[in-house]
This record gives sequence, C-alpha cells and structure tokens, in this order.
Amino acid sequence: MKVFAINGSARKGGNTAMLLNVALEEIRSQGIETELFELSGKKIQGCIACYRCFKNLNKRCAVDSDVVNECIEKMLQAEGILLGSPTYFSDMSASMKALIERAGMTARANGDMFQRKAGAAVVAVRRAGATHVLSSINYFFLIGQMIVPGSNYWNLAIGREVGEVMNDPEGLQTMKTLGANMAWLIKKINS
Ligand SMILES: Cc1cc2nc3c(=O)[nH]c(=O)nc-3n(C[C@H](O)[C@H](O)[C@H](O)COP(=O)(O)O)c2cc1C
Repeated sequence: MKVFAINGSARKGGNTAMLLNVALEEIRSQGIETELFELSGKKIQGCIACYRCFKNLNKRCAVDSDVVNECIEKMLQAEGILLGSPTYFSDMSASMKALIERAGMTARANGDMFQRKAGAAVVAVRRAGATHVLSSINYFFLIGQMIVPGSNYWNLAIGREVGEVMNDPEGLQTMKTLGANMAWLIKKINS
C-alpha cells in the first residue's frame, strides 16, 4: 500500500512540505510506503476545458505538456492521497488548483477513477484562511467519491518563514494524528 503526497507550494521543502512529511512519517511507521512530490519549479497549467478527456477515456489529461499526467499516474497507483497547500490569499496555491482542475476533470471523465481512495488536505498558514483552503481541497475528494479521514483539529499548522511550522506543536500533533487516521483508513478500505 502507498500514500502519495503532492505539495502545491511554490517553496520546495517549505512549511507545507514539512507538515506533509510529519504525516508521511507516521504513515511509514505503520508499514505503508510513501512518496512526496513537489510541484515547485515544475510546469503546470489549469484546465483548458477542451473536454477531450471525455472522448479519450484513457485516464490521462489530454494536455500532455506538463507534470499533471505524471501526478495522475502516481495518484492512481496509491491507496491514499495527501494534497498539501500553503494558504495564498485565503485559498490554495494556483499550482494545486491547476492540478485539481485537471486531475478532477480527468477523474470525472473516467468514472470517478479515484473512487474510494482515501484523500486528505494539509495546509500551512501564516495567520488566516487555512480552513477555507482545507474546505476547497476537500471538495475535490468529496465529488470524486473519495473517503476523507479527519484529525483531532483541522489539518493546518501556523508558520510564515520556512521551518516556523515546526514551532507549532498542536499543528504537528494534528498532522501526526492525520497520518495515523489515513493509515488506519486505507488498511480498512483495502482489507
Ligand atoms: C502569494 C502568497 C499569499 C499568501 N496569502 C496568505 C494568506 O492569505 N493568509 C495567510 O495566513 N498567509 C498567507 N501567506 C503566507 C503563507 O501561507 C505561509 O508563509 C506558509 O507558511 C507558506 O508555506 P510554504 O513554506 O509551504 O510555502 C501567503 C504567502 C504568499 C507567498
């Protein structure tokens, strides 16, 4: 079993990556393979509304010139998916939104191809807007018939400069619990 995590931050190895790694470490401790994929520095664009995915029906986005199909392939291979984003103007990053538009439409065209995989969001925030990011990402999981595990708080932690989230013990505990719940859930779903 595998959990595949995507970091939508423009900062590779930044706060969102650190939070994802806390959750992934807990998941690995439960014997589940993990991978972290950073969108930072990679070419990615939003959906162009060509609707060719509804004709091609090949589980790929028809726009094959960026990183999206690589992400889709890895999402298809995983039992659990973590989508991490910093809070940018009270919403997810543009890169994460582009991924969701493209992977989301391709999934709908192909019979909700992420159906019954587990999916959870992870959010870094300086001050405000993180619960909105969490909700926005959850819409992607929920419309695609995915199962969303929770934690003991909403999946966010506070920090501005790189590394500051490591000074938010409640945020780190939230990520650890999220990882434990993700591991528990995918074991149940796939038993
Ligand atoms: C373009 C941009 C917009 C931001 N908007 C917000 C915001 O609306 N609310 C907030 O609390 N922090 C905001 N921040 C701060 C980041 O969410 C914060 O620094 C976060 O820890 C960055 O995570 P990262 O290190 O993974 O990139 C913004 C940062 C950038 C670059």
